[in-house]
Amino acid sequence: MFWRRSAIGCIFLGLIASLGGTPTAYSFDSATSSVASYTLIAPTSEVPSGLLARAVIAAGAGCPALSGSTSSGRTFNLPMRLRPKPALAGAAYSAVDVCDGAIPIGTESAMVGSRVIPASLPSRIERIALTGDSGCRINEWEVQNCANTSAWPLARISRNIAKDNPDVIINLGDYLYRELECPVTDQSLCASSPPPPGNLPVTGSAMSWIADAIIPMQPMFDAAPILMVRGNHESCSRGGIGFFLFFSPQRSTALQCAPSIIDGNVVVPSNDISPTWNATWQVGDTDATAHTLDLEVIDSAYGGDLGVDSYAAIQRPSYVAAARQVATTQPDEAWLLTHRPIFGMTSSQITGSGPVWVSPNQTAASQGLLGGFDLLLSSHIHVAQAVNIPGQPAQLVVGNGGTDLDPATGYDTPIYGPLSNVDGSPLSPLATPYPAPTNTWTDVRFGYIIATPGARTKSWLLEHRDERGKPFATCSVANRLAKCRVTN
Ligand SMILES: [Fe+2]
Ligand SMILES: [Fe+2]
Repeated sequence: MFWRRSAIGCIFLGLIASLGGTPTAYSFDSATSSVASYTLIAPTSEVPSGLLARAVIAAGAGCPALSGSTSSGRTFNLPMRLRPKPALAGAAYSAVDVCDGAIPIGTESAMVGSRVIPASLPSRIERIALTGDSGCRINEWEVQNCANTSAWPLARISRNIAKDNPDVIINLGDYLYRELECPVTDQSLCASSPPPPGNLPVTGSAMSWIADAIIPMQPMFDAAPILMVRGNHESCSRGGIGFFLFFSPQRSTALQCAPSIIDGNVVVPSNDISPTWNATWQVGDTDATAHTLDLEVIDSAYGGDLGVDSYAAIQRPSYVAAARQVATTQPDEAWLLTHRPIFGMTSSQITGSGPVWVSPNQTAASQGLLGGFDLLLSSHIHVAQAVNIPGQPAQLVVGNGGTDLDPATGYDTPIYGPLSNVDGSPLSPLATPYPAPTNTWTDVRFGYIIATPGARTKSWLLEHRDERGKPFATCSVANRLAKCRVTN
């Protein structure tokens, strides 16, 4: 199949040129035809170790082996399983195949073909990288400069996260932003960006996923296992097929966004949220601060941002499941990961005279179910943000991972709470307004967070770093409160 590999390799080199990257760094692994390989955090119900190996390979090349050794000295050499592709995906996903393998418990070193992949989590996690909202935006109203790593810094962020040597990475979603063909007038910005597929009612394809995520994220992939949250850009009508093929942490969900034919038209599912899942880690850097941290992962790909409607009732079981899991297992600490924020603020430059709180459907769907959580982690708003609502866990927004940032100003602390209109009246009869925030903090710069344990148990120091890896702000998180300040 050499011709196939060469042809795809040429396409990749073209993409890489538009990414400002170094072609040799991302060329195929000649032994395996591997485009990329990475280790996903997965539910232990899927894989006992909580870690899945994935490989993206040239279509038809055949899955490589997953090999390695365990702490007891046992070696393994396991076949990887081909993930099925939707039957109707056709040309949009014909270039690559994706392979999947369960990393055994106790693994110390692992390889996919001849590529080394992260093999394990440390017995105690001390360093967590947080990022989200990363692709290069090409749509009706905006064309980001995908060819410039200052204007679209995902590759730089990825490299600097790797340099910071995290134990684990959390990506809060929104990977796929190339939703239109590069306009004729903007060829200097995105000349070789893959256009949307012509054969499906979706905006993403294998090639746009490779350009927006798979290639620029490879340094991160090499650094640590990564937990991937689904964003609204991964709804089925956008990048959903690719999300479930590449990044879904379940072994059986590769076809979740599969198109079907209804009344002669090719359609994809809508409101197809996946079940809440969780990961439980041992965290802390000393015996005194060691404790269990549970992460509940919500699929908030749908629901809109402006009001409360019937979708809130569709979404609510996701939060019920998360609350029930935490109530049952009683971890020392629990974080809720949901792409759309529960207490996030967009800029008043965007909303004008309307309320700034997003996303009300998530806020309503989760109401009364947040008592067991210490922290809410989201992205979706393209800023770095922290919000404290009285009596509720702090909300952090980490949406500054590369896609074009939101307006630089317009983040004054509102005098009205989430689920309220600006005059304090209820936004909807379907939900009760929260009190106004005690304080908020927003910074509009590209970057990511490195989270390390604080001096006391269940406390964290979050260092915001820019795309060059330079610290610019810190947040201390303790007792369900986040206190942030700019340091640079
Ligand atoms: Fe986004
Ligand atoms: Fe989003």
